Amino acid sequence: MSASVPRSGSPVRASIVLVIGAARGLGLAMARCWLDRGAEVIATVRDPASPGDGLLALRAQHGARLVIEDVDVMHEERIDALRDRVAQRLRGRRLDVLLVNAGMTSLPGRPVDRIATADFNWVMNSNALGPMRAVVRLAPLLSVPASAAGIATDMPSPASDRGAVAVMSADPGTGNGGGGAEIFLASKAALNALLRGYAARQSPAGPAILALSPGDCGQGDCGAGPEGTDDPPDAARRAEALVAAIEARRADAAPQEPSAGSRALLIDADNRIVPW
Ligand SMILES: NC(=O)c1ccc[n+]([C@@H]2O[C@H](COP(=O)([O-])OP(=O)(O)OC[C@H]3O[C@@H](n4cnc5c(N)ncnc54)[C@H](OP(=O)(O)O)[C@@H]3O)[C@@H](O)[C@H]2O)c1
Repeated sequence: MSASVPRSGSPVRASIVLVIGAARGLGLAMARCWLDRGAEVIATVRDPASPGDGLLALRAQHGARLVIEDVDVMHEERIDALRDRVAQRLRGRRLDVLLVNAGMTSLPGRPVDRIATADFNWVMNSNALGPMRAVVRLAPLLSVPASAAGIATDMPSPASDRGAVAVMSADPGTGNGGGGAEIFLASKAALNALLRGYAARQSPAGPAILALSPGDCGQGDCGAGPEGTDDPPDAARRAEALVAAIEARRADAAPQEPSAGSRALLIDADNRIVPW
């Protein structure tokens, strides 16, 4: 069950966004939304030799506002190399949003007693450990309000100073009535727990820290999209809503609801807080 929360500010528009895992599906659709809003987007793929038709089409449309980078979050040294390249590209500027969308959805629908240990470990690494390593290593590139950076000022910090880090998670409390998704949901529960632990170590005045629950976008990886687009049909609508939710949370003066009990929030595509 989700709880609505009052908003304390107007949504702000990101000007530089890093999307990890943007070759297809929700990541591609959210990269497109930010480009359409006028942001610069750094979008990563695993295989730089084949970034996918969707991203190539976006680059043809938006030119230099889209940079295609590469990383596999299973490899720490590739995350570090990406961080260094992005820092160089930013030339002293800061990211407004870091979205770690990388993860997997389609699984062998096997219950826990029938999953091979190697498959279980692979899902956990893909959906929990890898994304969190990306968060920890890349979040220092995010913008922080002047007050959080220790800069003395009489002016209230503009909301647009506040960056956001978001991971693509799921609400582990729902959606497995028929069984079969338990390994996937366990991996997202682990991601949520790791994000909360990370958030507990961050300054309350720093970037917003969000786990996104996109809902079930269809079978497997958001359903099959139009041929040649890498772009599932339902992803566009959800992506628009999730981007709007992230921007709204960046504007929240009081991002932490006392009832939420965490510096991080799990929100759905309607920007409602989902109890952890
Ligand atoms: N679809 C749903 O119903 C649903 C529901 C809840 C949560 N989610 C989560 O939402 C996210 C996106 O879902 P989707 O359905 O759009 O998935 P998708 O179509 O399978 O796309 C996943 C993206 O993540 C990338 N990726 C996967 N593993 C990676 C790794 N180790 N390092 C870097 N990039 C990696 C993939 O890159 P490649 O193109 O190279 O494979 C791809 O671009 C996932 O985290 C998923 O678990 C989805």
